[in-house]
Amino acid sequence: MNRSGLKERIVDLVRREGPIPFDRFMEMALYDPDGGFFGSGPLRSQAEGDFLTSPETSGEFGATLARFAESEFRRLGRPAGFTLLEVGAGSGALLSPLLTALDWTPRTVALEASPAAREALRQALPAVEVASDHRDLDRFRGVVIANEVVDNLPVAIAVRAEEGGWAERRVWSDGADLVLVEAPVRSEVLAWLKAHAADVPSGGVVECQLAASNWMGRMIDLLEAGAIVVIDYGDTSEGLLLRRRRGGTLRTYRAHHLSRHPLDEPGSMDITADVDFSALARAATDRGLQCKLYRQDDFLSELGLDGRRAEFRQRELAEARDGDPMERLRLRSRVKEIETLLHPRGFGDFRVLVATR
Ligand SMILES: C[S@@+](CC[C@H](N)C(=O)[O-])C[C@H]1O[C@@H](n2cnc3c(N)ncnc32)[C@H](O)[C@@H]1O
Repeated sequence: MNRSGLKERIVDLVRREGPIPFDRFMEMALYDPDGGFFGSGPLRSQAEGDFLTSPETSGEFGATLARFAESEFRRLGRPAGFTLLEVGAGSGALLSPLLTALDWTPRTVALEASPAAREALRQALPAVEVASDHRDLDRFRGVVIANEVVDNLPVAIAVRAEEGGWAERRVWSDGADLVLVEAPVRSEVLAWLKAHAADVPSGGVVECQLAASNWMGRMIDLLEAGAIVVIDYGDTSEGLLLRRRRGGTLRTYRAHHLSRHPLDEPGSMDITADVDFSALARAATDRGLQCKLYRQDDFLSELGLDGRRAEFRQRELAEARDGDPMERLRLRSRVKEIETLLHPRGFGDFRVLVATR
């Protein structure tokens, strides 16, 4: 079915049921098997796709995360069946260098919502188990990694009213087009807002990330012992107050560029919001996990990436003096890739939540 089919189905749905919450719309726009951006269509995370991520930028990202997996393996006493689960594994650009960097082989599972990504993963990494549903997995000891996935989990949208209360934006149809309308806020959304957005001024728009907290709960259920590592754009609740200004952080991407309003052509573009890492950490600490929040540049540097940059740079300079020009270029591009991963206003400004049990 084509994308206009998805929009027509959403129009039919709101005509039948009345205005639907934005998170329900976003669920369909991203994950519907007949027209959702991830649920159907080609592989999205690649140079020719819609966005470029840290693992797609450089194999150094996955290779550096291998050091984290190694330290958890040792912390847990090298258990048999130690499992590496990557959620939203895309093309395999993170898992491939990670597994190459280890001198042992963990059981590895890639959980993917996209059929095209699942097929790409089976082709690229035949030894990796590929799954579409967390309910198919048993509990394990190991590490869960999710890079640029939680920002896609459906959000509700709330607006702070003049009197200090909240309204919720719902999706409605004014005829052929989808539009946003304001409605009373649902009780679960209100509870989330009270916990994580109490200081937002009137007129402020907030993406309420209930689905992200629920996702964290599902990952914790899977993890007997080990760590969950969430890497994404976003900030603490306080940081988001400044970052999102009044208009919220919801945006869309298509072919590497910011795209149109999320209600235009549902299914044709990525819909995403900055992750509220305080809310995500709270979902983990409430279940007894220890949480630590890093910036990506600090996290990767602690795992040795900055040292690797310096080493490549030294070798590049040595090759420049009396070595092989091709090798010099290869080292130069490695240095550039690492600088991109650590750039303080780019990927380096991403956040990394490490939740351990
Ligand atoms: C922005 S891409 C990132 C891909 C990869 N992690 C990377 O960093 O290159 C998001 C990926 O997560 C997948 N995805 C989105 N929501 C998901 C979910 N709820 N469960 C599993 N995979 C999901 C998408 O299909 C897509 O491949």
